[in-house]
Amino acid sequence: MMLIRLQLTNFRNFQQLEFLPFEGFTVVSGPNGSGKSNLLESIYYLGTGYSYRQMHDENLVRWGADFFSIRGEVRQGIRQPLPYRLESAYQKAARRKIFKINGKRDLPGKGAAYLPVVIFSPQDLLLIQGPPGLRRRFLDMVVTQVWPQHAVDINYYKGVLLQRNKLLRQGSGIASQMEPWDEQLIAAGSRIIDRRLSVLSRLLGSGRRIYEILGGSGVLTGTYVSQVFPSGEELERADEACCRELFRNALKNARSLDERLKVTTLGPHRDDLRFFLNGHDARFYCSQGEQRLIALSLKIGQSRIIAEERQLEPLVLLDDVFSELDEKRRSQVLNEFCAFRQVIATTADYSGDYADKCQLTTSIVSLHVRSL
Ligand SMILES: Nc1ncnc2c1ncn2[C@@H]1O[C@H](COP(=O)(O)OP(=O)(O)OP(=O)(O)O)[C@@H](O)[C@H]1O
Ligand SMILES: [Mg+2]
Repeated sequence: MMLIRLQLTNFRNFQQLEFLPFEGFTVVSGPNGSGKSNLLESIYYLGTGYSYRQMHDENLVRWGADFFSIRGEVRQGIRQPLPYRLESAYQKAARRKIFKINGKRDLPGKGAAYLPVVIFSPQDLLLIQGPPGLRRRFLDMVVTQVWPQHAVDINYYKGVLLQRNKLLRQGSGIASQMEPWDEQLIAAGSRIIDRRLSVLSRLLGSGRRIYEILGGSGVLTGTYVSQVFPSGEELERADEACCRELFRNALKNARSLDERLKVTTLGPHRDDLRFFLNGHDARFYCSQGEQRLIALSLKIGQSRIIAEERQLEPLVLLDDVFSELDEKRRSQVLNEFCAFRQVIATTADYSGDYADKCQLTTSIVSLHVRSL
């Protein structure tokens, strides 16, 4: 898979930008603040429907403008006659997000079907240290890259949850109205959990091996954390039918609490992931370097899973990650990506390092754009 053209309008510091990435390794170099991370952020947004640096889309709109748009052309194979045209836009006043594939509206998350991206950036530490919402979003994004249909379930689940919470806020006499919402929540929710569990187990398997290869000490493990699985033991053998039954029971048991708090207190929207080194929770016991290596291993695992499941290589984005790695790890990580068809890396200080370490043609693009 290859991104062959990117056009930005009013995205961050770019009023207009046309970028034609090369095949192989593209290094984007430029001084601090020239927009290197913004450029990768726009590609990531197109492929996932959200930013890896910001929770709020309005922050991505260029100061003084009222919308941004990102257009990309993607070619998946040589036999594909015309590239896919992807377009993401956000209108600030209406708070409207629009995503189109070949001119037709679709869910923003569906970008993952055409442009699966994996990013490595200083923000990766948040995968371990950040709030649960970031980990859920990461896992759902990987699931969507493997099964694009997941985006539809997530969207549907959010809609049902909104309705259920609205009903809970109304208070008394809602019991009979609740049931249909519960059934829909259970149906979509159990599919979501089942897919998450299956992708997480592959991610952990791959991540553990890569963590070892990268010289990490200790054994990396992880788990899904959910009130739907009260003892945690059910996780091992949970399939979709089992998730459905457990979710139904948990929802029933939590009903009076939900009514008191006027909100749905459990379900995939409240779940989390935990990572452990030798059984110790990575958030509290691992050094920053170890946490970074865990995140890096999981991301490399993500690229492998996409390549295996979709027979489609993801576009790899490296945002200044090399400045944070020591010499040995830098070349090990580069080796991991040599085989990928397209890698776009940013650096403020280009020293030719990439080309030497990775026997690939390296193309260099200089960004000298400052805010207009
Ligand atoms: N919404 C926005 N509108 C206009 N400019 C913005 C907006 N958001 C961020 N910027 C500007 O974009 C500039 C470039 O940011 P970016 O993070 O891409 O730089 P960079 O090239 O990655 O720098 P570094 O080498 O320090 O990582 C910053 O100077 C920032 O002030
Ligand atoms: Mg940057």
